[in-house]
Amino acid sequence: MRWSRLLSALLLSFTGVRAQSSSAAAFFATESPIAKANLLANIGPSGSKSQGAKAGIVVASPSTSNPDYLYTWTRDSSLVFQTIIEHLRSQIDNFVGAQQIMQQVSNPSGTVSTGGLGEPKFNIDQTAFTGAWGRPQRDGPALRSTALITWANFLLTQGNTSYVTGTLWPIIKLDLDYVASNWNQTGFDLWEEVNSSSFFTTAVQHRSLRQGAALATAIGQTSVVSGYTTQAANVLCFLQSYWNSAGYVTANTGGGRSGKDANTVLTSIHTFDAAAGCDSVTFQPCSDKALANLLTYVQSFSIYAINSGIPSNQGSATGRYPEDSYYGGNPWYLTTLAVAEQLYDALTVWNQQGSITVTAISQPFFTNLVPGTATGTYASTTATFTAITTAVKAYADSFVAVVAKYTPANGALAEQYTRGGGVPTSAADLTWSYAALLTAVDARNGVVPLSWGAKGLTVPSACNTNSGGGGGGGTVAVSFNVQATTVFGENIYLAGSVDALADWSPDNALLLSANSYPTWKITVNLPANTQVQYKYIRKYNGAVTWESDPNMQITTPASGSYTANDSWR
Ligand SMILES: *[C@@H]1O[C@H](CO)[C@@H](O)[C@H](O)[C@H]1NC(C)=O
Ligand SMILES: *[C@@H]1O[C@H](CO)[C@@H](O)[C@H](O)[C@H]1NC(C)=O
Ligand SMILES: *[C@@H]1O[C@H](CO)[C@@H](O)[C@H](O)[C@H]1NC(C)=O
Ligand SMILES: *[C@@H]1O[C@H](CO)[C@@H](O)[C@H](O)[C@H]1NC(C)=O
Repeated sequence: MRWSRLLSALLLSFTGVRAQSSSAAAFFATESPIAKANLLANIGPSGSKSQGAKAGIVVASPSTSNPDYLYTWTRDSSLVFQTIIEHLRSQIDNFVGAQQIMQQVSNPSGTVSTGGLGEPKFNIDQTAFTGAWGRPQRDGPALRSTALITWANFLLTQGNTSYVTGTLWPIIKLDLDYVASNWNQTGFDLWEEVNSSSFFTTAVQHRSLRQGAALATAIGQTSVVSGYTTQAANVLCFLQSYWNSAGYVTANTGGGRSGKDANTVLTSIHTFDAAAGCDSVTFQPCSDKALANLLTYVQSFSIYAINSGIPSNQGSATGRYPEDSYYGGNPWYLTTLAVAEQLYDALTVWNQQGSITVTAISQPFFTNLVPGTATGTYASTTATFTAITTAVKAYADSFVAVVAKYTPANGALAEQYTRGGGVPTSAADLTWSYAALLTAVDARNGVVPLSWGAKGLTVPSACNTNSGGGGGGGTVAVSFNVQATTVFGENIYLAGSVDALADWSPDNALLLSANSYPTWKITVNLPANTQVQYKYIRKYNGAVTWESDPNMQITTPASGSYTANDSWR
């Protein structure tokens, strides 16, 4: 454990553990070691409950029936490892190796170059899961790259540039190219039910592109920087559209629900950047929008019997979304803990900046806890600041107390606890539940994650789509020339990452002209100042053959034209 403590000390900046003796502190003290042990038990190859999972594979839960969770999700794996980076290095190296392999596994969403990175889950022997599922899910590549970038940034501080550039960057770049090319496409949400655009997905995509541009700059991979930065601005613009006139975040653009969803609270804690203060553009935990949203989200679970009689200024059980019917629609441990974590994060920033601002948007959140709070800014020397921070701390702790109340004596955290009696249900030992416990403990202790660049971002005045070009919607003529010898009846086609290149569809790929054989040619209008990936395809007698990996990539100029001179690979 010596190395793990050293790593924690290097990675984390403790702002001091406040002395207290509340029941939340007592619960965390007994539950933390249990959560750590049970989380590690779910990771292959040596975890005691990982049931044969390969090295670096995270089992969502050891439960094999009712429900069967013996799979590995990209999202869960990435969130779990974002936490673990702060604890154990050898496991991280295994994770990198596992993800490097699985990026290349052909699966029902495609190959590495045709959308396969959006595949949400795999079998734990690293083979493709081929059953029916809600696919693609586009948060996985974003979360995986964020986890790997956190690791890369740490290694850079250790002077380990060669591993970052040689091993980590190619994995990260595949994911970020996928995000840059696909953020403006629909996919399934983090609960794997709604096929539309999803706030959580959009927010983590935005974060990953910002971090990716910064890492690329740091290690001299400058060709991708402007493309990632342009798309990040486009994604940030789109992110604002989830805020609704009723004063909360609509979690998904589809699905036909209220849109009140833990998705939104999870977004605030997983995109927390204390350097950004209470900025609402990135929905920081203490921003007026995120606090108003938290209140609306929490209140939507007054429908649970176990919440009856709990006053509105005290913690209650919260679930994924009020319309949920999975296993009867229950509160989840990780969502209830997420509420506490958002509030702990908010307290950290208010104390750090020495003031709290109450706006018309956040006022209902504050008056629920401190009746009569007026809009305005309260310095840390004021009685109102003290009243608010005291009340918010107690409110946060009371959500932990709900989790404590419904945690069995052995400390095991399942996925859910029943809405009627608080009895653990659905998957046992959910790895994500344990990770949520550990990050809530850190947040309560004032641990601040590393900054990812959320500070001072401005939203573009008009929102572009990713294929509409970053430079304001213009297009440029791009000529593709490829040397390829063919047999009679065989033709060369082109497909790539933007609409004008058929969005990687082999069926709709563009036929090149053989007038200059053996050079095949086509000229296409592509969005200006945009990173575009492509490959050539052979079609012969109905058979389709793609060029070998990796994808070809260009960044189109802001104006004028461009000619790519390639040879078939
Ligand atoms: C760089 O980090 C990798 C991954 O942990 C490790 O295998 C390698 O030994 C490190 N190299 C140096 C020079 O520290
Ligand atoms: C694509 O981006 C535009 C501009 O932000 C937005 O209006 C549209 O809803 C987005 N569509 C998807 C599926 O992301
Ligand atoms: C998800 O929605 C998109 C856009 O509406 C659609 O093209 C796609 O077929 C849908 N996927 C599934 C699995 O329903
Ligand atoms: C491709 O070849 C043409 C003609 O020789 C040249 O003008 C162009 O700059 C080349 N493109 C690249 C990307 O090198």
